[in-house]
Amino acid sequence: MRIHPSILSSDFANLELELQRIETADAAHIDVMDGHFVPNLTIGLPVVRRLGEVSPIPLDVHLMIENPDELAPQYAVPGVESITFHFEAARDAVGIASAIRDAGAAPAVAIKPGTEARVVTDIIDAFDMVLVMTVEPGFGGQSFMPEVLPKLVELRSAAAEAGTIVRLQVDGGVDAVTIVDAALAGADTFVAGSAVYGGNPAERIASLRASLGDTLDG
Ligand code: DX5
Ligand code: ZN
Repeated sequence: MRIHPSILSSDFANLELELQRIETADAAHIDVMDGHFVPNLTIGLPVVRRLGEVSPIPLDVHLMIENPDELAPQYAVPGVESITFHFEAARDAVGIASAIRDAGAAPAVAIKPGTEARVVTDIIDAFDMVLVMTVEPGFGGQSFMPEVLPKLVELRSAAAEAGTIVRLQVDGGVDAVTIVDAALAGADTFVAGSAVYGGNPAERIASLRASLGDTLDG
């Protein structure tokens, strides 16, 4: 079980410090938005490159951009562990995955709430991780959408059928309560922005882990 705080809810004027505040997490989730694929604009490659140099933990880059076929592999810079692109924006999802892998990072694919899981079940062995969005991508602080959880069950069984190991990530509205529903549905990697940076990040990370511990115990 992995916790990936999203720095989207952190102070963008102090990103090095904000990364240090989440050093007990497993990776830092970096939301790259281009103002076209989603109606919001954040940071791009030059900033991600510097974050990779200064971060105490690996970076999990979530690309909400058009043209991932060309751009996604470029994000495989030092410090970046995984690169997630959106299936909806991709021309050749398997080709992008292999280019990311060749560039030295773990490939992952994301699906928006309206995209069915079956678009990736047949190609699931190309990816190290699938991200099931639990909000419409674009902004932090939105409410978790429980109606997408059956996709996790579907993806977990598709991975088992394919005989492949894949991490299942959820992103959007994850807090100490909704994380339990996501874990029970099969997620193992949890992005949380406002739930972590809305308080003391180390305490919030510990409380998310405690919720997961209770789930596994009970
Ligand atoms: C939304 C981003 C998320 C966002 C989550 O498009 O992909 O990573 O930061 O924020 P919370 O956890 O506040 O919903
Ligand atoms: Zn994200």
